[in-house]
Amino acid sequence: MTAPLWKASIRAAHEEIERFSMLFELTPEPSPQSVIVLTHPHEDDAVIEAYYAEAPDGDALTAILGRDVKVEALPDVDWVKLSQEGLPPVRAGRFFVYGAHDKGKAPSNTIALGIDAGVAFGTGHHETTTGCLMALDWMKRTGMAPSNALDLGCGTGVLALGADRLWRIPVMASDIDPQAIDVTRENLRLNGGQMRIRAVVAEGFAHPMIGAAAPYDLIIANILAGPLTQLAPGIRDHIAPGGRVVLSGLLRTQELLVLSFYRAFGFRLERRWRLGPWSVLLLAL
Ligand SMILES: C[S@@+](CC[C@H](N)C(=O)[O-])C[C@H]1O[C@@H](n2cnc3c(N)ncnc32)[C@H](O)[C@@H]1O
Repeated sequence: MTAPLWKASIRAAHEEIERFSMLFELTPEPSPQSVIVLTHPHEDDAVIEAYYAEAPDGDALTAILGRDVKVEALPDVDWVKLSQEGLPPVRAGRFFVYGAHDKGKAPSNTIALGIDAGVAFGTGHHETTTGCLMALDWMKRTGMAPSNALDLGCGTGVLALGADRLWRIPVMASDIDPQAIDVTRENLRLNGGQMRIRAVVAEGFAHPMIGAAAPYDLIIANILAGPLTQLAPGIRDHIAPGGRVVLSGLLRTQELLVLSFYRAFGFRLERRWRLGPWSVLLLAL
């Protein structure tokens, strides 16, 4: 995910959060790279922020949401780096995801992943990433033992690294964004140059190496609900019989929509994690 350069925001009552978050997500091009809900325990309403790589149409958003949407340009990429400095480490299951400033602080009973996010998505702080790490940890604890994994939309490579550390298996990491793949490769190096992870730039499955390494018995995809529904046939084509799929990036309110696409291809829901407005689905074939 490239650095967001534009922000659209509104204030919303708590009961409006899911509806407005979903409307932000589903608005036509440009679609947001992420939608964030900021709540404060002592305030009645929340702020919903959508981040874009190109300028969104404020008038169109205002018309769609039925409320004045504020659109503003953000300072350049240093904003991203600044926002990461001082981020605390994240605990998710047994994972301990830390930035360079926390190197060496991982407790001994954790699986430590050092992540330099740069302009890519995936510090581990967002619930969609945390939920995937929890799902992977749960799979391991319950005895699942995949032998070949794909991290589709790898961002920083945090989930690919997590799968590698849990199972020591080959992992294909792919992202539509070349900058994310640069960041992923750097993170592989930072974490000891894992030889089992390969990182490629690809939209969906459109890279020969992704097909050549299939079938996968674990596919992880933390992308928004819209792309997840479009990727369902490709995921079905690349999964091994009995394989598992971890889907993230969807809101609770979008579970049924996303599930309906995957059920049509024979997947069943095995487990679900809900973190804030977000939902992580573990599917089995
Ligand atoms: C929400 S981020 C997730 C990053 C990381 N996997 C994590 O869990 O933190 C989604 C990533 O998917 C990538 N992406 C979006 N659409 C994609 C597509 N059609 N094919 C491959 N990657 C895509 C974005 O560039 C972005 O890096």
